[in-house]
Amino acid sequence: MSDPTVVPGLEGIPATHSAISQIDGAAGQLFYRGYPIAELVAQSHYEEVALLLLDGELPNAQSLERFDAGLRAHRQVKYNVREIMKFLPVTGHPMDMLHCAVASLGMFYPQQELSDAERENASHLDSMAMRIIARIPTIVAMWDQMRFGNDPIPPRADLCHAANFLYMLHGQDPDPLHVRILDACFILHAEHTINASTFSVLVSTSTLTNPYHVIAGAIGTLAGPLHGGANQQVVQMLEEIGKIERVEAYLESKLAAKEKIWGFGHRVYKTRDPRATILKGMMQDLAQAGHLRHSRLFEIALGLEAAAEKHLGPKGIYANVDFYSGVLYHEMGIRADLFTPIFAMARSVGWLAHWREQLSNNRIFRPTQIYTGAAPRSYLPLAERP
Ligand code: COA
Repeated sequence: MSDPTVVPGLEGIPATHSAISQIDGAAGQLFYRGYPIAELVAQSHYEEVALLLLDGELPNAQSLERFDAGLRAHRQVKYNVREIMKFLPVTGHPMDMLHCAVASLGMFYPQQELSDAERENASHLDSMAMRIIARIPTIVAMWDQMRFGNDPIPPRADLCHAANFLYMLHGQDPDPLHVRILDACFILHAEHTINASTFSVLVSTSTLTNPYHVIAGAIGTLAGPLHGGANQQVVQMLEEIGKIERVEAYLESKLAAKEKIWGFGHRVYKTRDPRATILKGMMQDLAQAGHLRHSRLFEIALGLEAAAEKHLGPKGIYANVDFYSGVLYHEMGIRADLFTPIFAMARSVGWLAHWREQLSNNRIFRPTQIYTGAAPRSYLPLAERP
């Protein structure tokens, strides 16, 4: 047998079989269960896409209604979760809060420890997944009230997933256009094959730990700036550039210093990320309808994308999903440090679809390594060490 080789970042190494989503990196296409992402954004909504990802097929009216009613009924989280959150520092990043609060849910909902029979029972797994998806937005919105000294705004069962989140965040009936855009962002962020956080889901699920540990681990993985954290960095970068005239100089200085341009590049897409194209179209629609409040940022984003494409396009580096999502959230009056928690809210669906898929054909992950350390040797007592 030839010597094994380490592939840094496991680039191109299949870690599992999966029927959930598919990327064609060369053509810039993304499919959920075979459906092109653009069709789902144009014709479906998040609740339906969630069920498609979890179950494998578009739902009929009855199962969609049941799932949607379940989401609406389980938005409340136990009072004691809120008590834990009260003791977290308000200056902390909301992703750190979310990681901690979601992990704590496993203590408050102990039935989430699965027996062998439950692991084989699809409807039990569905109901657990639905409850987690329902509660994460409540935790994020609650925190945004609590950290500014306000009482959390209770969720409303008469609103869809996206509208309810905006309502809990801002305390007023949301603008229907914002609801539509946020719903589209949720769809676009719901799933994306075996990225770093989803890979962490496979690894932790394979140990048969409870799903709250699985999702908390994925939240922690998503928080890094090379993954979900990039959308917050994008808006900070655009603010730092400040005006369109500075785009070229900013770009050149960053590239000369070998620094990354946030919201660009992707391990799999070697052309434009289809999600970025859809989000950019939404920004353009907003601008044309005269609804754009922060047109300066959008103008800088357009300028930066064009300039970066000139420099980075030949290397196969283009704008990714995070480039425009942050600008859209900013437009809706959402604070920048909530952008990544919103990504986590949406992605919880994809993570839970992979959790179920891994459980259906599980073997614990245990890769190997190529040892590069010292050869076996004898312990030296302290007095004899040089
Ligand atoms: N800006 C400038 N250069 C970039 C770049 C970016 N955003 N992304 C990649 N590159 C360059 C690297 O510097 C490297 O150049 P080199 O070959 O001259 O050293 C080359 O492209 C390969 O980059 P690498 O980081 O090894 O690719 P990867 O596949 O390991 O990483 C990302 C993919 C997404 C982590 C990477 O593109 C990145 O850090 N992007 C910025 C963060 C971001 O937007 N993340 C969200 C992803 S959806």
